[in-house]
Amino acid sequence: MRILVVGSGGREHALGWGLDCSGAALYFTPGNAGTAAIGKNVPIAADNVTALTAFARQESIGLTVVGPEVPLVKGVANAFAEARLPIVGPSAEAAEIEGSKAFAKAFMARRGIPTATFAVFSRSEYDNAWAHIEEQGVPIVIKASGLAAGKGAIVCATLDEARTALDRILRSQDFGEAGAEVVIEECMTGEEASVLAFTDGEDYVCLSPAQDHKRIGEGDIGPNTGGMGAYAPAPLVDAPLLQRVRTDIIEPALEGLASEGRIYRGCLYAGIMVTESGPKVVEFNCRLGDPEAQVVIPLLDVDTAELMLAVAERRLGNLRVEMSGSAAACVVLASHGYPGAYQKGCVITGLESAGDAALVFHAGTGLDDAERLITSGGRVLGVTGLGLSLQPALDQAYAAADLIHFDGVTMRRDIGQKGLVRLAS
Ligand code: AMP
Ligand code: GLY
Repeated sequence: MRILVVGSGGREHALGWGLDCSGAALYFTPGNAGTAAIGKNVPIAADNVTALTAFARQESIGLTVVGPEVPLVKGVANAFAEARLPIVGPSAEAAEIEGSKAFAKAFMARRGIPTATFAVFSRSEYDNAWAHIEEQGVPIVIKASGLAAGKGAIVCATLDEARTALDRILRSQDFGEAGAEVVIEECMTGEEASVLAFTDGEDYVCLSPAQDHKRIGEGDIGPNTGGMGAYAPAPLVDAPLLQRVRTDIIEPALEGLASEGRIYRGCLYAGIMVTESGPKVVEFNCRLGDPEAQVVIPLLDVDTAELMLAVAERRLGNLRVEMSGSAAACVVLASHGYPGAYQKGCVITGLESAGDAALVFHAGTGLDDAERLITSGGRVLGVTGLGLSLQPALDQAYAAADLIHFDGVTMRRDIGQKGLVRLAS
């Protein structure tokens, strides 16, 4: 069978790694230097829905798995369904749960899904938005409603910061059309976790609960990034809490989407905050997380291709999906300066020995004219270690990560620390 993976990051390399075990012929649009080693990279942009559909039809692709959110929000799953091409990824109507935070919050309100209290304002309602912020006080969270590559949420500790955030979104339009509406939310306190579930629209399976590390700096300081590391299972989400997330969040969300005719065959990602009054949704994503995929895929005790096919063909209820009893930890190696400006084109060394010690997933990598592996993005590599528990998984990931070098290589040394502390208590 021919399988297409849409995207070019570490998540897509991890998906490809899982799918490669099935012996399928793999294609990546557009992929990276790591995916080129396990399949064929095809230079089609991940959000070019027309070209993706034409390619899948021409090449008789038997299964397509979509990594990023943009093509899903643009309707790639609708186009594939119309062309009778099997695909893992929700319809545009269902992907709105990530594509519009205003929609997601209203959806949660009408489905009784616990989340931060909120209000939504459009560009013409600047004065009302500001009055609402003054009335609520700080801290407060101000978000561009649309897709903003993970940068659209601003946690404001002072009214000055809130004014700047509101101006950036509604007045100077730093987020373009994604900022046509602003969502103003209560600031929740607690620890965050990611609960990912695959659904075929009827049945669903939860993957190992994971924890991401969004900030660039150790101790969770500095600006937000795409994610500097992850580990699973996260002991924060123990069995009773996971059960509560299933019944209070995942099930009402999936039932609500289905009853509103929003077809969902793919991965629903619930970013949750574990507050004193229980788990609440920070955000929903319509896809696997990155770097969460780099830890949850290796922990699947079922063939990845079989799972994906069952999702696409609506027979998840007949498949036994188990998580292995092991732990996984992923350390991201980023370019110096990320998430701000950074240099590209630095030569990467040490991958061979690192690859012998752990799983090395490529993200922002490419080849130069001399076929040398070079950096081409902010997040360059994700190194995943596996072990019987979190500590050996982390040891393996860091031992391998330390073998890799490129100019300005940057990593957090505290991935998984919160999990270790919780396990020890
Ligand atoms: P989002 O893009 O909605 O996932 O937000 C990015 C990050 O901002 C989250 O991972 C949280 O750390 C933080 N955040 C978002 N919404 C809230 C909220 N209502 N309360 C506290 N922190 C939040
Ligand atoms: N790791 C966060 C995300 O994928 O959105």
